[in-house]
Amino acid sequence: MQAIDDFRKLAESLVGAGRVCVLTGAGVSKESGVPTFREADGLWSRFRPEELANVEAFISNPERVWEWYSWRRELMAGVQPNPGHYALAELEELLGHFVLITQNVDNLHQNAGSRDVIELHGNIQRNRCHSCHRFYPEGTVKFAKGELPRCECGGLIRPDVVWFGEMLPPEAIDRASREAQRCDVFLSIGTSAVVYPAAALPHQAKAAGARLVEINPAPTELSPLADLVFRMPSGEAMPRIVEEVKALLEERG
Ligand code: OAD
Repeated sequence: MQAIDDFRKLAESLVGAGRVCVLTGAGVSKESGVPTFREADGLWSRFRPEELANVEAFISNPERVWEWYSWRRELMAGVQPNPGHYALAELEELLGHFVLITQNVDNLHQNAGSRDVIELHGNIQRNRCHSCHRFYPEGTVKFAKGELPRCECGGLIRPDVVWFGEMLPPEAIDRASREAQRCDVFLSIGTSAVVYPAAALPHQAKAAGARLVEINPAPTELSPLADLVFRMPSGEAMPRIVEEVKALLEERG
């Protein structure tokens, strides 16, 4: 059982903080129906990442990679943000400087109303040319079996997501790293915190003096470092945290 006092303690830290940074992972979208990666029923227990989420796989078998991403894109198009996403958007409105860094590609934070979102691993709705990097907005690229989408330059179009072995968008990871190192409170929510460089962010924040908080029903490698841990699904923890923040702000006028 989570101590009621923990919600109060976190609300006090958040309200007192000059800057708040949040890192989210697949766990925040689980309650919306999007599968995670490394849990027992996660994607990587059914699929091999090296055959799907890397450049070599795309070059050697683009059709297979496209099939997998089309399936995920359809799945994500049919889901809605859950109370965890909405609570994070509300927290951004309530607090001062608030940055949300996500490893998710599902657009659910933006759909819930979060405004300052740093996408570390891209966005599954967007596409770009693998050769000339030209961007193709949502809805302009269709994949059909036997018909690979091609750019005007002749190159293959691909989903605008980061694959294993690829660099993260430099402006995204640079800003995320800067924000992590100057925040007062860092929340790590719904991530196993094992995929670098995203996984380095909570460590950078902690080393720079931030209070580190984890929200995850299961322990992670980060748990021993955390100052406060909420062993709960984010869809339950986040709305309670927002209520506590609102109550505190009201009390303080
Ligand atoms: P993982 O699947 O590694 O971790 C999901 C985490 O969410 C686990 O620690 C779960 O315990 C936790 N979790 C499950 N349900 C939850 C809930 N309702 N509320 C909160 N937490 C919950 O997913 P990520 O850490 O996001 O990268 O994985 C990081 C990266 O690895 C992904 O972005 C993806 C993947 O390979 C690429 O594809 C480049």
